[in-house]
Amino acid sequence: MTTTDGLFISFEGIDGAGKSTHIDGLAQAFRAQGRAVTLTREPGGTALAEKLRIMVLNDPMDAMTEALLVFAARRDHLQQCIEPALARGDVVLCDRFTDATFAYQGGGRGFDLQLLSIMEQWVQAVRGPEVGFIRQPDLTVWFDLPAEIAAQRLAGARTPDKFEAQPVEFFRRVSDGYLNRMTASPARFARIAADNTRDAVWLDVLQAVQIKGWLP
Ligand code: TYD
Repeated sequence: MTTTDGLFISFEGIDGAGKSTHIDGLAQAFRAQGRAVTLTREPGGTALAEKLRIMVLNDPMDAMTEALLVFAARRDHLQQCIEPALARGDVVLCDRFTDATFAYQGGGRGFDLQLLSIMEQWVQAVRGPEVGFIRQPDLTVWFDLPAEIAAQRLAGARTPDKFEAQPVEFFRRVSDGYLNRMTASPARFARIAADNTRDAVWLDVLQAVQIKGWLP
């Protein structure tokens, strides 16, 4: 991979795992190397997808509706934001992507994983189904934190949204969902022990990118 190739990195973990500051840190590190960075998030990243995000995070709905809405948001996000950014050669840093759907709707809410796989194949076939190309992150940084510790961190932090208000058992299932995704695609994942000091976590995040040769 040359420095002008676009790079797609996603960040995952249960609510409270502490992704945000490290995503910003990586953006700074890439910019210091002269790379253009697109910082974005899911659900969201486009005007339409941000509207869908508000519904998904606040309105009660069944798990299939939730899955369809996050994948609709993802399709628009890929078309309008991620694919053009990668074509320009940007580093795309995305706070959550499809692994979150397998973890939250699949693991947490118990929705059919095979149906999620079918949606994934449709939505991420960004160059047309005939080519057989499915867009996936080049690297997924998974902030792995025990559900009990995440719950302590979240307690009283702010008014919880629909997912943050879920009980600790829900987040155990979400974590299992992430683990299953990592087991299916180990080369794509960097698992970071997020139950550590912020500095230690940052060094692990940086190293995960350095090992790929994307930062010095
Ligand atoms: P999050 O990324 O944690 O943002 P914030 O830090 O602003 O709360 O919130 C997004 C929530 O959406 C999170 O609880 C996980 C959930 N989510 C899904 O359930 N499915 C998905 O496919 C995605 C991308 C997110």
